Amino acid sequence: MSNPSILILPGDGIGPEVMTEVRKIIDWFGAKRDLAFDVSEDLVGGAAYDKHGVPLADETMAKAQEVDAVLLGAVGGPKYDVLDFSVKPERGLLRLRKEMDLFANLRPAQCFDALADFSSLKKDVVAGLDIMIVRELTSGVYFGEPRGIFEEGNERVGINTQRYTESEIERVARAAFELAMKRNKKLCSMEKANVMESGILWREVVTRVGEDYPDVELSHMYADNGAMQLVRWPKQFDVIVTDNLFGDILSDCAAMLTGSLGMLPSASLGAPMENGRPKALYEPVHGSAPDIAGQGKANPIACILSFAMALRYSFDQGAEADRLEAAVQTVLADGVRTADLMGPEGGVPVSTAEMGDKIVAALDASL
Ligand code: NAD
Ligand code: IPM
Ligand code: MN
Repeated sequence: MSNPSILILPGDGIGPEVMTEVRKIIDWFGAKRDLAFDVSEDLVGGAAYDKHGVPLADETMAKAQEVDAVLLGAVGGPKYDVLDFSVKPERGLLRLRKEMDLFANLRPAQCFDALADFSSLKKDVVAGLDIMIVRELTSGVYFGEPRGIFEEGNERVGINTQRYTESEIERVARAAFELAMKRNKKLCSMEKANVMESGILWREVVTRVGEDYPDVELSHMYADNGAMQLVRWPKQFDVIVTDNLFGDILSDCAAMLTGSLGMLPSASLGAPMENGRPKALYEPVHGSAPDIAGQGKANPIACILSFAMALRYSFDQGAEADRLEAAVQTVLADGVRTADLMGPEGGVPVSTAEMGDKIVAALDASL
């Protein structure tokens, strides 16, 4: 049987830097755990624009549809700000999500013990935190029509449309309930049903799906209150399900509970393929971080933990995913820190490559 296949799309800015470290981890699993992958690499975002004039070539899109999992670094950067909207780097990522139909974006926020002191919130607020945000990823205001910038009288109007069908809400709700069943059986759905019709429908459909999951304690919260509750007492949550735009914002907010945006991985999952596994793309929550790109300062942990999610959700290797997450814990507990994890007391940060090497060493030590 052939090895499982992975398409790596490093992208722009710190994307290629953090992906170099993920390659070390992938190679380690091949060499030391007999878990070899067929890895291919291609361009996305600004890097693809520079070569092809589009942020995602059709051939790359086709490859992404065929592999068992896609790993993506990050896209975007100031160099591309002047481009026409239709070819901006971010459009490449959005095309992947839409055409692969990756409707459920799992964004876990876990506070590693070693970083509990480091969060901008008090230690007892974040210590032991382990929540999962399920963000709808292929619909809502990101994709709704009509959209555009139009002439209206003597001025222009910018339009985006929040739009959700019942089936779009139902499938992401089901994914969230299924996850809640495997966790602490608590699900909080966030929308703004007080001001948006799409929010009213969202609440109705989630409630209806909940009838199939009587063991899950379902609650509803307005998303603005949800943002406040996330920083007030995040441990009240287990799984959160929300729409595309609220999920984007709430997950960046949740990232800071863990200490740094450089820590947060994600899995974007679609419907099961013929082999029973979901179509999947794994990527850190952070962007291309132009302010630190090219300096060896980026924290590769979010991208490395995204590969751990791939081991768990695409390759049925839950125990190996645990091993990788434990290696990250060990390294953090040893006080190894990239610059983003440095507190006011200072210290000497390690580089992106040194962090990767330390995690590989911790994996070696786990054998
Ligand atoms: P960003 O996430 O790139 O950076 C925000 C801040 O977090 C910066 O100060 C950055 O240095 C820091 N940061 C992010 N990741 C880090 C890491 N791994 N290690 C250390 N520090 C890290 O967000 P932004 O500055 O708003 O956006 C920059 C570009 O990235 C934009 O073009 C945006 O569209 C794009 N973006 C892409 C993705 C993606 O590819 N999934 C996600 C978000 C933003
Ligand atoms: C994210 C990013 C993307 C989003 C951009 C780059 C398209 O912010 O993955 O969180 O808005 O979804
Ligand atoms: Mn975002």
